[in-house]
Amino acid sequence: MEYLYQIYKEFFPIGVAVGLEHLEKYWDLLKHFNSITPENELKFCEVHPEESTYHFEKSDKLVQYAKENNKLVRGHTLVWHTQNPDWLFEGKMVSRDMLLKRMEDHISVTVDRYKDSIYCWDVVNEIFPDGEGKLRDTRWKEIIGEDYVEKAFCYAHETNPKAKLFLNEYNCEEDIKLDLIIDYICQLKKKKIPIDGVGVQGHYSIVYPDLEKVRKMFYRLAKLDLQIQITELDISMFAFEDHSCDKKAPSREMIDAQARYYSKLFSIFREYKDVITGVTFWGAADDFTWLDDFPVIGRKNWPLLFDEKLQPKKAFYAIADFRESQIRKMEELYKEE
Ligand code: G3I
Repeated sequence: MEYLYQIYKEFFPIGVAVGLEHLEKYWDLLKHFNSITPENELKFCEVHPEESTYHFEKSDKLVQYAKENNKLVRGHTLVWHTQNPDWLFEGKMVSRDMLLKRMEDHISVTVDRYKDSIYCWDVVNEIFPDGEGKLRDTRWKEIIGEDYVEKAFCYAHETNPKAKLFLNEYNCEEDIKLDLIIDYICQLKKKKIPIDGVGVQGHYSIVYPDLEKVRKMFYRLAKLDLQIQITELDISMFAFEDHSCDKKAPSREMIDAQARYYSKLFSIFREYKDVITGVTFWGAADDFTWLDDFPVIGRKNWPLLFDEKLQPKKAFYAIADFRESQIRKMEELYKEE
């Protein structure tokens, strides 16, 4: 079997988020991917639990695995409003300058450590709340001010000028947020802030977002003249507002709908291959996904390309066999003529 990344080598790298604890279990499955994102091992709370303590053991092992298996590594994530250690914002009055120093230390130590192995970073993650048209109210913004984002990009660039620096966001297809992302990035570019790309997380479902909204989003983002990466792709079997939890396995209809959605989504990705520089799945197989228990505690989900037994699903073939389906369509077309 040809691996997925080989099928897509003329388009973009195919990546996967993986935790160190799953590396062995997914060893064979990971051969389909030529990029990895440590799912949690590079987050602030994991690598920098105390002000003068850094823990890189877990992330080092994942980076070493990637190096030995010729895979790219995406760094996720330097500045986020959650998964931060208590010391970062607490303690005696934390001033703007103190928090800037803490941010700079974290970014310079972490990015420098991997300057020869992590080619791109989600410098900031989820800085825009849904539907509000402004920067999210976070401790970063409250203590430093709105320029905390610019500072993060500058610290990362000063540490590793070669690294590609991304703003990573979810629900980018929503008009209000997309308007804000585009406007905000134009402001950053005007200020010569070193930003290289937009990370579109891509946490979708079999019914949302409408694929024309996705296409329109790429059309608009492509005008920014930045790289675009899909950074956390998964296709939930349930609409966000569907809190049903009676299914112990996906129905045939769900499996077919998911395969159709993945197929149409990837045809849009291939259409935008000139600006898309990576597509990363947020997980390898349905046996472990963050969507189990979210948003419904105790509910199983099946959002990925491989099933709970690590076997390829209909969704996998829907994106792997795109050339065959194109040939079939052409043959049907000629048959009708
Ligand atoms: O490492 C601790 C462990 O020591 C402890 O025993 C255990 C129980 O409390 O928690 C473990 O940490 C958990 C961590 O995953 C590692 O498993 C955290 O509680 C848990 O909150 C964390 O969840 C991650 C979540 O981000 C929050 O960081 C998910 O695995 C991860 O898939 C999810 O990924 C995020 C992206 O980073 C950003 N975009 C959204 C996406 C989904 O939420």
